[in-house]
Amino acid sequence: MAQPRLEVRNLVRRFEGRAVVDDVSLTIEPGNVTCLLGPSGCGKSTTLRMIAGVDMQDSGSIHVDGTLVCDTVFRIPPERRAIGLMFQDFALFPHLSVGENVAFGLKGAGSAKKARATELLDRVGLGHFIDEYPHQLSGGEQQRVALARALAPRPRIMLMDEPFSGLDNRLRDGIRDETLAVLKEEGASVLLVTHEPEEAMRMADEIALMRGGKIVQRGAPYNIYNAPADKAAVAFFSDINALRGKVQGALAQTPFGPFLAPGVPDGEEVDIVFRPQHVGIDFDRGGRGPNPTQMAGTPARGVVERARFMGSESLVEFRMDFDGGMIKATVPNVFLPKPGTPLWLTVRRDRCFVFPAKD
Ligand SMILES: Nc1ncnc2c1ncn2[C@@H]1O[C@H](COP(=O)(O)OP(=O)(O)OP(=O)(O)O)[C@@H](O)[C@H]1O
Ligand SMILES: [Mg+2]
Repeated sequence: MAQPRLEVRNLVRRFEGRAVVDDVSLTIEPGNVTCLLGPSGCGKSTTLRMIAGVDMQDSGSIHVDGTLVCDTVFRIPPERRAIGLMFQDFALFPHLSVGENVAFGLKGAGSAKKARATELLDRVGLGHFIDEYPHQLSGGEQQRVALARALAPRPRIMLMDEPFSGLDNRLRDGIRDETLAVLKEEGASVLLVTHEPEEAMRMADEIALMRGGKIVQRGAPYNIYNAPADKAAVAFFSDINALRGKVQGALAQTPFGPFLAPGVPDGEEVDIVFRPQHVGIDFDRGGRGPNPTQMAGTPARGVVERARFMGSESLVEFRMDFDGGMIKATVPNVFLPKPGTPLWLTVRRDRCFVFPAKD
């Protein structure tokens, strides 16, 4: 099998005795984009800084194409790691022209440097700005110049720390797609840090989900979204609903009917977790709902507390008869029942996640 482009083994970084990065292992295949995704403060930037070589791990090692780059005794300096960096505050040099900014990290003859700078600026659609200065460019244009600058020396690995967070929302989607296309074309292997699930899903071949200094799950976006490791992993990607149930004979009984809880011992509690888009809504028929089905289980009654129009969908919140708790449902059109309306809810069995209850 081919060597991974980047391999990080058991990386640990402590600050004041606290492990901020706590035994992180990662691999990135050549040409792939991996997103390190997690909430603020979980250790993403610290991980990236160690790979870049601007911070030093307490233990663990980093390898590029099978060659040791850094462990606790041996260390190749950052400038010799063939790693490109692009951080949130990708300051361009204000006193250098756009072309000089892009050529800055290149070695060799002036004409070759200029040719490479021109090639990359053309690629990001900014060839005509080569002799302008950074202050003459918009934020989005500056971001593209910074990308061209980071890619110019043909790094084997690109490390990007929230590179789009400074951009206007309307610009961001286009620039993300464009950036991804350029990265793929240049064949760079990318580790991109973000705390936004939508960004990770849009960019990543693989997502590494990080929490409290640890990687809790790795996989393709589809797998992470549809087979999350735990309740917090579901909640990181969307709003959630959760029910508690006690297990008897590998089944958890709930007001929505029984749910399979294979391998969970009798008497233990589980959380049944489902997303608002997997809640079905049906009308009240004189105090009765629809009949139970294999797919949708048993209906349970709730009363509309709030209904909001969200553009492409509506969000309806229900106070449930069975325990007075709330359940959220989203429906893909304009459906705005009045508060106080009784309706019946069902839950798509195949879209529920059952996890051992933790608290
Ligand atoms: N030099 C340092 N000294 C002490 N604590 C630090 C240092 N650098 C980072 N930390 C702490 O380590 C934790 C992780 O920081 P890090 O910057 O890696 O988080 P992050 O996942 O990048 O968060 P964000 O999404 O907000 O950028 C934080 O609690 C931070 O306060
Ligand atoms: Mg950070």
